[in-house]
Amino acid sequence: MSEQYSPGLAGVIAGKSTIGLVNGTDGILLYRGYPVEELAEHCTFEEVAHLLLVGHLPTQAELTAFDAELKARRVLPAGLIEILRNLPTTTHPMAALQVGTAALSGFFPALDAGDKKGNWEGTLRLTASLPTIVAAFHRIRQGKPVVAPDTSLGLAADFLSMLNGEKPDAKSSRLFDVCLVLHAEHGFNASTFTGRVVGSSLADIFASMAAAVGSLSGPLHGGANEEVLTQLNTISSAAEAPAWLDHMIETKQKIMGLGHRVYKVKDPRADILQRMASDLFSSHGSTPLYDIAHAIEDHAKVKLGPKGIWPNVDFYSGLVYQKLGLTVDLFTPIFAIARIAGWSAHWLEQMQDNRIFRPDCIYSGPHGVKVTPLDERG
Ligand code: ACO
Repeated sequence: MSEQYSPGLAGVIAGKSTIGLVNGTDGILLYRGYPVEELAEHCTFEEVAHLLLVGHLPTQAELTAFDAELKARRVLPAGLIEILRNLPTTTHPMAALQVGTAALSGFFPALDAGDKKGNWEGTLRLTASLPTIVAAFHRIRQGKPVVAPDTSLGLAADFLSMLNGEKPDAKSSRLFDVCLVLHAEHGFNASTFTGRVVGSSLADIFASMAAAVGSLSGPLHGGANEEVLTQLNTISSAAEAPAWLDHMIETKQKIMGLGHRVYKVKDPRADILQRMASDLFSSHGSTPLYDIAHAIEDHAKVKLGPKGIWPNVDFYSGLVYQKLGLTVDLFTPIFAIARIAGWSAHWLEQMQDNRIFRPDCIYSGPHGVKVTPLDERG
């Protein structure tokens, strides 16, 4: 056995995939070969989900059929809404989403991981249901009635409609749709890997995706978008940002939304989101937080850029969501409703050529310890 140890599995090749490429040196992100910038400009989330799950961009006929399959699965079983109602209203929406995702297997009985048709059904069910779960729990915790899905709307617009109880305008819908496209896939990141690891034991897709939701919730991963706003809110003005950053670096604290395991240049998604934020602020009025974020980025270029620490996808996404009127603790669930497409694509790929994940560790504990009888232990 090789005793090579790579903390955090950095640089370890743990699988083969044709789904997403993350080139961290040149700042390139491809979904099945397409640059994410191209997809963000020309495609809806549904087209991108089809690309990830099926392997190619859909024709109009394929898109119509795929869209109809998703729309037919947007409604949640009444029992699942009841489960969400029984959670304390203080539950974090990511925890509610994890509960709802796992509970789907009770309503759509656990599928044999070797059953292709069942797996496809699970994939459609998850992609269609996650937005409804997030929106329903948000309404419930506010004491408002749950809004039923509106199948005249695309997935992005329908999510906003179920959340706010009113149809969103076309600009907000498209902007949000692009955010979903940007978050749909990202190679062997922690949550995708989690989904693949759980799937590798032949656990069903709902159990695997519930685990992926849990992995995404952490502040070093998807949870960072929420933390970015918390940090920005502690800085009173753009002028104060450089001193704040210097203090964070000196005291060895993490600046949320900066740094990435793979990207050693600016994350291409951060570039797109920054442009979107700046567009949105010029048409809908700016926020001092954007100026503060910008000032941090400028100073970080000098202070952290040489170490390969640059803005990641989470640095600007929260500012866009906030301007769209979304509550801060919904930012990570929104990430999940997009990433479910990438997670499921990876899970399906894992099932095609599966071997259970079982790495080793370097044991550094004691050997051969004798058991002291219970009544003699101090
Ligand atoms: N702020 C300050 N210093 C940082 C940051 C940061 N955001 N990120 C990395 N560093 C420093 C570390 O302190 C460390 O310095 P040292 O070598 O002097 O000890 C060095 O860079 C390497 O950092 P690690 O945390 O070991 O890098 P790793 O690849 O393990 O972690 C991670 C990557 C978790 C993304 C890290 O950059 C981080 O914590 N960033 C902030 C949280 C964040 O924004 N997460 C979202 C990532 S994108 C996503 O998951 C969707």
